[in-house]
Amino acid sequence: MHVYAIDNGPMDKALMATGQVEHLHEDGFTWEPPYRLDWLVCDIADKPSRVEAMVERWLVRRWRREAVFNLKLPMKRRWPEVEACLGRLAEALEAARVDAEIACRHLYHDREEVTVHVRLRG
Ligand SMILES: C[S@@+](CC[C@H](N)C(=O)[O-])C[C@H]1O[C@@H](n2cnc3c(N)ncnc32)[C@H](O)[C@@H]1O
Repeated sequence: MHVYAIDNGPMDKALMATGQVEHLHEDGFTWEPPYRLDWLVCDIADKPSRVEAMVERWLVRRWRREAVFNLKLPMKRRWPEVEACLGRLAEALEAARVDAEIACRHLYHDREEVTVHVRLRG
């Protein structure tokens, strides 16, 4: 496995010693992969709408087959925020004729975030 780790922060030294991770100090919202990848994994703490828009771009352009990302929810009205993000994502994929399964789970009862998995069909 080869991983592009897009993070403007530091990376774990033992992880880097594996030789399987290429750390790029770039903006995860604007970085574009050099070729199509298998997975996009995103745990950036930012506005859910911003994270959704970035993932949407990756999926519509078919830069990867599957995506797992967290939507951080520090706001009071969490469910409307999640609903809006998932709705925008589903609509954008449909409009681009990208056939996908979208699943969303609240994995940690004490964390203000949900985890979304998207798998392209076909
Ligand atoms: C919640 S932490 C991720 C922790 C990671 N999942 C782990 O288990 O170690 C969020 C990370 O996103 C990085 N980050 C925040 N905004 C970013 C951006 N615009 N581009 C790239 N990385 C960003 C931060 O430096 C931080 O390392």
